[in-house]
Amino acid sequence: MAYYRCAIMEVETKLNVLNEEYSIKYSRNPIEAIKSRLKGIDSIFGKLKRKNLPMTLESIEENLNDIAGIRVICSFTEDVYTIANALLKQDDVRLINAKDYIQHPKPNGYRSLHLIIELPIFLAEDKRPMKVEIQLRTIAMDCWASLEHKLKYKKNFEFSQDMTTELYECAILSAQLDAKMSLLKRKVDDKNAEFDDVKTSTPIFEDLEVNET
Ligand code: GTP
Ligand code: MG
Repeated sequence: MAYYRCAIMEVETKLNVLNEEYSIKYSRNPIEAIKSRLKGIDSIFGKLKRKNLPMTLESIEENLNDIAGIRVICSFTEDVYTIANALLKQDDVRLINAKDYIQHPKPNGYRSLHLIIELPIFLAEDKRPMKVEIQLRTIAMDCWASLEHKLKYKKNFEFSQDMTTELYECAILSAQLDAKMSLLKRKVDDKNAEFDDVKTSTPIFEDLEVNET
């Protein structure tokens, strides 16, 4: 578990560096929050049992990709892809699997970009490749997923079709919110660019001909 904790630290640092770079370059943080968790021993063994996998350390390392989990909450949908691409471009990061539930939402409406990556942690004597699950989503996607989880988790009754439909409708609203916010962001960016153009094309004082009479 210590190795997985180290892998989380490595990925968190990479994400914080990217966020810092963006805040300097563009005066804006694309990452709103980073949440990490290590899978508990009980759920590790529960999952091995459910999947009929051997209860060994090798089997855990080989078969479970979500022992180290990181959730990255971004401001806008485009930030999700910007951050994911910037991370995957790094030469010590290897993509093992990607699931784009933003382009292809789950039937219940769930949206997020899921990446399983492998990256090395450097120990005193050796270097270990570690797998980490990263879920990237916007604030709106996170809002829906967190509330859906709260509503469904450990309830001792089945969700009715009506309830499922209502949750799905909420997912549509959250997707519309993201789309509208992205449009608005583009308009704001365009206005800012126009303003910068005006500033740079306005003649500065020394260029003016001064009539010395
Ligand atoms: P496991 O469920 O971990 O065995 O993984 P999987 O192979 O089905 O992977 P997937 O990438 O689809 O989902 C992994 C994780 O994404 C889950 O453990 C949740 O944290 C999150 N997730 C996936 N689907 C949903 C969903 O419908 N609602 C919510 N709230 N979270 C979801
Ligand atoms: Mg999981």
